[in-house]
Amino acid sequence: MIVGIAKEIKNNEYRVACTPNGVKEFVKRGHTVLVEKDAGIGSGFSNEEYIAQGAEIVETAEELYKRSEFIYKVKEILEEEYKYLREDLIVFTYIHSNAHREQTDKFLESKAIGIAYEDVYDRNGGFPLLKPMSEIAGKGGFIAALNFSQSIHGGNGLMLARVHGVRTPEITIIGAGNAGLGAAELAAAFGNKVTILDVNTDNLEHAKHILPPNVELLYSDEQNLINCLKRTDVLMNCILWPKWRTDHLVSREMLKLIKPNSLIVDVSCDDNGAIETSRSTSHDDPVYVEEGITHYVVDNIPAAFPQTSTYSLCNATLPFALQIADKGVKQALIDNKYLRRGLTSYEGQLTLEETGKKQDRPYISPEKALGMED
Ligand SMILES: NC(=O)c1ccc[n+]([C@@H]2O[C@H](COP(=O)([O-])OP(=O)(O)OC[C@H]3O[C@@H](n4cnc5c(N)ncnc54)[C@H](O)[C@@H]3O)[C@@H](O)[C@H]2O)c1
Repeated sequence: MIVGIAKEIKNNEYRVACTPNGVKEFVKRGHTVLVEKDAGIGSGFSNEEYIAQGAEIVETAEELYKRSEFIYKVKEILEEEYKYLREDLIVFTYIHSNAHREQTDKFLESKAIGIAYEDVYDRNGGFPLLKPMSEIAGKGGFIAALNFSQSIHGGNGLMLARVHGVRTPEITIIGAGNAGLGAAELAAAFGNKVTILDVNTDNLEHAKHILPPNVELLYSDEQNLINCLKRTDVLMNCILWPKWRTDHLVSREMLKLIKPNSLIVDVSCDDNGAIETSRSTSHDDPVYVEEGITHYVVDNIPAAFPQTSTYSLCNATLPFALQIADKGVKQALIDNKYLRRGLTSYEGQLTLEETGKKQDRPYISPEKALGMED
């Protein structure tokens, strides 16, 4: 198969889907790998490093998309890239189709095959292609909190660390999953008083085993959350909020409970989601103030750490990408139900139920689209 590794064009996105070591795995199996010129530069990989592992460098995105059968990338297809979508082109990337209606239109009109990283799942019901980025996002979210608490960055001037003779800052983290644990690990390591809330007691128990004793583990009910809001210096949202929910865990009204000039870091980044006042921001313009509380809602935190993120993401996606290249996309999807769950569009049909419901569009199951059931 001819695999194309695209250069990301989204603002401040420096990750690349595949490392030079990953290229070697494709080439070893007899596949051709095209890498768009300078695709790896932001993650610290030169064109020469890719060539050394058997890749061919192509000058433009147009040539890459034209010659490739399988586009392996990181972010969704942006407007400038719509024109490259065509029938049977396989695109394996984060798609987030429910948040990008126009992109969904383009996938369906072009009949390109979209497989979304974020919907691939594993035998425990987890999301293995979200997990590595979630951990980095949680940690990066805490690093953002360190930054935006500083007066020189418009913050309230608190150093989020234990300093003798001074009150220790309190950090509240909602969600003890991948992002929440990543955030808690750093926040606790800096000596803060950390509270994690979760509705899943197994996840809280797991957190108890891996986090230090300065992390309090609370069941996430309304009263516990209210008590935390009253005392917290930083609120971090790390919940995986169901796409269909229209209510909020932290309403606009509840922001009045939080100390003025405090900080919310919404790692989950669901517009108007668990936190009513959240709307996605970018690294260029990361914060805004609502009800006297600074909100940091950057939707691609890992992009700030491309060297770490690229390795971590490629480690997780490569086994699936190799299956697609080795078996052909249809067989790979039939053989692997975990990968199949990520199928978003196939032969011009929407195959992701959540997007169908959210955008009020017709959809069919991936199994039906692939001819596995009538
Ligand atoms: N901003 C970014 O750049 C970025 C990057 C990666 C991931 N994310 C997002 O981070 C979020 C978390 O991802 P994850 O991999 O850690 O998810 P996860 O599934 O591992 O963890 C979510 C946790 O939230 C808990 N939860 C659910 N409802 C709750 C409630 N009402 N109160 C308290 N806890 C509750 C779950 O039990 C679970 O432990 C996702 O929305 C993901 O899309 C953002």
